[in-house]
Amino acid sequence: MSNRTFTMIKPDAMKNGHAGAIFDRIIKEGFRVIALKMTKLSAEKAGEFYAIHKGRPFYGELVEFMSSGPIIAAILEKPGAVSSFRTLIGATDPAKAEANTIRKLYATSLGENAIHGSDSDENAKIEGDFFFSGLERF
Ligand code: RTP
Ligand code: MG
Repeated sequence: MSNRTFTMIKPDAMKNGHAGAIFDRIIKEGFRVIALKMTKLSAEKAGEFYAIHKGRPFYGELVEFMSSGPIIAAILEKPGAVSSFRTLIGATDPAKAEANTIRKLYATSLGENAIHGSDSDENAKIEGDFFFSGLERF
């Protein structure tokens, strides 16, 4: 089990002014920040990041949404980071998310759900490497 995960605060949460509150919560939950940046994905880069969903009915909307505004990307560290972080963010659909999870508190809808969290150690590494060079990790 690796101790790192990767996250993005998605464009809806950025636009709605929730980035500060979300980051504060992440830190209070005991995650250490290894790498951090604010950036904006092109449609091409968003499509590449979510390539696993290519062919799904929501793929076009997902790519359009994820490239619609700036995001904050981060690598986070905590024992059991991937599963602990998925618990913290809650279900993909905020209507089904547990009380007090980040998606329950801050997501807009199933498609615009405030935050991304890696779903496996393998994907956490791939996703962190997608955004950050070795010089950007601390
Ligand atoms: P994420 O990868 O962003 O952390 O989300 P997740 O694991 O909870 O959900 P996933 O199945 O990987 O789906 C990726 C993102 O696609 C959008 N989605 N829309 N309209 C729909 O039916 C639908 N299903 C998924 C969501 O933004 C979801 O987070
Ligand atoms: Mg996913």
